[in-house]
Amino acid sequence: MDRDTELQLIDELLAIKAEKTFFLDETVARSPVEHYTSQDRFDQERAQIFRKLPMMVAHASEIANPGDFIRRDLAGLPLLITRDKAGNVNALLNACRHRGTRLVDDEAGCKHRFTCPYHAWTYANSGELLAAPHFDQGFTGLKKSDLGLTRLACQERFGFIWVSAEGGLDLDDFIGPLAEELDALHMDDLIVTHQDLPEHAANWKILVEGGIEAYHFKVAHRTTIGPHFEDNLSSYRMFGAHMRSILMRTSMAKLAPETRETWRLRDHAQVLYTLFPGASLLVQSDHISWIQSEPIGPGRTRLRLSTLAPKAEAENAEHWQRNHQITRTTLDEDFVIGESMQSTLESGANTHMLFGRFEGALDAFNRTVDAHLTPTGPQAVAAE
Ligand code: FES
Ligand SMILES: [Fe+2]
Repeated sequence: MDRDTELQLIDELLAIKAEKTFFLDETVARSPVEHYTSQDRFDQERAQIFRKLPMMVAHASEIANPGDFIRRDLAGLPLLITRDKAGNVNALLNACRHRGTRLVDDEAGCKHRFTCPYHAWTYANSGELLAAPHFDQGFTGLKKSDLGLTRLACQERFGFIWVSAEGGLDLDDFIGPLAEELDALHMDDLIVTHQDLPEHAANWKILVEGGIEAYHFKVAHRTTIGPHFEDNLSSYRMFGAHMRSILMRTSMAKLAPETRETWRLRDHAQVLYTLFPGASLLVQSDHISWIQSEPIGPGRTRLRLSTLAPKAEAENAEHWQRNHQITRTTLDEDFVIGESMQSTLESGANTHMLFGRFEGALDAFNRTVDAHLTPTGPQAVAAE
């Protein structure tokens, strides 16, 4: 983020506070309950969003060295992410090409080749089939070179590993004007110090929505982060499908004008990038929390919560553990409420969610989801 933008974002929130108003969209909005409960809708989202768009599946530090591997699930696909001896990252389907046995059961490790537990077909960590017992006699007419593990498009960028199951992987096009801001965060200099994988009985959109408004801070987070934030004061901007939200801390209003040159947005606000569809990067004063939604079903979502700290300070384990726990506790407050919402939505108690004018970010997010589900795709909607 350039310096002018940083100061403008601070000035904007200070002005809103001075005028005792809020960051308001034009109108109240509604979101139909079935968007959070219907299996059909979920299947469409999985097929047209989670399987088509570039997704952040891991931080590069999770497979830092040649031979490192991790397993991931991408919209129901079993992924094996490896770093080969050339240092390249590979996104492979973790399914043996013989009869489909899961090739690797360990969640993570370091191996240069993988042997299938059923008939010992052996693959390099770059995916090629190296050996298969009695192959020439048994598989006449087939070539080992055609039977490597299925590869998905994969790229390392902004410190993360991006994979696209079925669509393209043009990150310049996908991230667009936010690329400069993401580059400036130097996330390739960070390391995952802690990671949790909680599962929640709530739709993935409810969990994303919980992060992009400050209306609930003084209520739902009154005993944790609530006292450190202004009441219902946040702003947001869309960058194509993605969003940058600024949630104002109470310390911002105490900034002295004469120290303007030293103002640092991330010290006085939570800067949140919601990278469509389900990645949230919460930029805190000295670290970043990465929250990745991995939808399982209409009413079930797995979250990958990671604390990313500067490599040079990673040994300060106690500090990062404490920060991770604070983030986890705060998010758990949101998730308990998310599960409560999901249960009433599934009961049919209400027909719509209501988004107030200061919850415009939630409407913008939902409209982005809708746009991806039209037969012609988001571009056609944007051009309307
Ligand atoms: S299923 Fe893997 S070797 Fe047969
Ligand atoms: Fe919250």
